[in-house]
Amino acid sequence: DLIADRHGLAGKPVLVREDLNVPMHEGRVSDDTRLRAAMPTLAELADHGAKVLVLAHFGRPKGKVDPEYTLRPIAHALADVMGRPVGFLESPDRHAIDVLDPGSITVLENSRFFPGEEKNDPVLARQMAALGDFYVNDAFSAAHRAHVTTEGLAHLLPAFAGRQMEAELKALEAALGKPEHPVAAVVGGSKVSTKLDVLTNLVGKVDHLIIGGGMANTFLAARGVDVGKSLCEHDLADTANAIFDAADAAGCTVHLPYDVVVAREFGANVPCRTANVHEVEADEMILDVGAAAVEALSDVLKTCRTLVWNGPLGAFEYPPFDTATVALARTAAALTREGTLVSVAGGGDTVAALNHAGAADDFSFVSTAGGAFLEWMEGKELPGVKSLES
Ligand code: 3PG
Repeated sequence: DLIADRHGLAGKPVLVREDLNVPMHEGRVSDDTRLRAAMPTLAELADHGAKVLVLAHFGRPKGKVDPEYTLRPIAHALADVMGRPVGFLESPDRHAIDVLDPGSITVLENSRFFPGEEKNDPVLARQMAALGDFYVNDAFSAAHRAHVTTEGLAHLLPAFAGRQMEAELKALEAALGKPEHPVAAVVGGSKVSTKLDVLTNLVGKVDHLIIGGGMANTFLAARGVDVGKSLCEHDLADTANAIFDAADAAGCTVHLPYDVVVAREFGANVPCRTANVHEVEADEMILDVGAAAVEALSDVLKTCRTLVWNGPLGAFEYPPFDTATVALARTAAALTREGTLVSVAGGGDTVAALNHAGAADDFSFVSTAGGAFLEWMEGKELPGVKSLES
């Protein structure tokens, strides 16, 4: 713990990897969750007199300097969020860092402007390591990348986890590492093919696997249900059946919707109806889990101690197909508030869905990670985490 060992920090340059890869709209940060997540570590180090040098990427500029991907506006937004000055250095060298004030925070330009960053190039790693005396990785959400700023530096400088990284690892450990059973997982989203490894890993770890979203259709079809015009990966029927078999062998109950909301077109507030899964017409699409199934799933959650959630249950961006996601998220939030459930969520659309349900604040932990959360759910070791351990 670098901060516990704070005495050595005053006046020292500390390289801190944050995830500043934030959504932008018309040149402004449209969601500052990751900036707020970066704050505790940056403030703590600066308050102990370190010269804080923030390393981060933005977008995928492919190793070239590209003004479209400059971190400059994001550094300004970070200053606003933190309510304190945040500097910006386009091409840092040790001299520029020597003249920085102790207790200052400075964002360095997009690490992906260097061709060596994503290659984890040892020459670049040594050049960057020369800029600081310590390395702190606070970017769990970029820890699935083995790049210079997420992995390489940890081998060259005394390396520590930041506060956000610590919080993510602690929550994930409570959810799937050493969870209290019974454990439920909600896995939604459109395609089985993108979450095959997630499902395969989870059946061996959780007691209840709740499958929703478009991917549930592939499982229903594998069971012989006619899903009409629904999004469905028919070629994955064997794979879906293998997951059912693995779940059976591991004592994991797979929950699929038995009533569904169907429509003939896709959009907001189009005509729709609730049907039993066996009564979907040839020209209908399944767009959400039905109310009866949601109630049954809520009952399952009431018996559980731990929940891990990734992906919406329906086409939640178009009402009323957000209904099941909102209802189950609110149940999980209420159970968490009452203290019977530890609930951890993360990945892509999930945070937006939980925010939309007004449930995110009540979850025990909502990860800032997209791809890294999924790789963790796949049971993979993340290079950015592993390099801190060695
Ligand atoms: C993310 O936004 O999930 C992380 O910052 C990683 O970004 P990347 O997918 O471009 O590596």
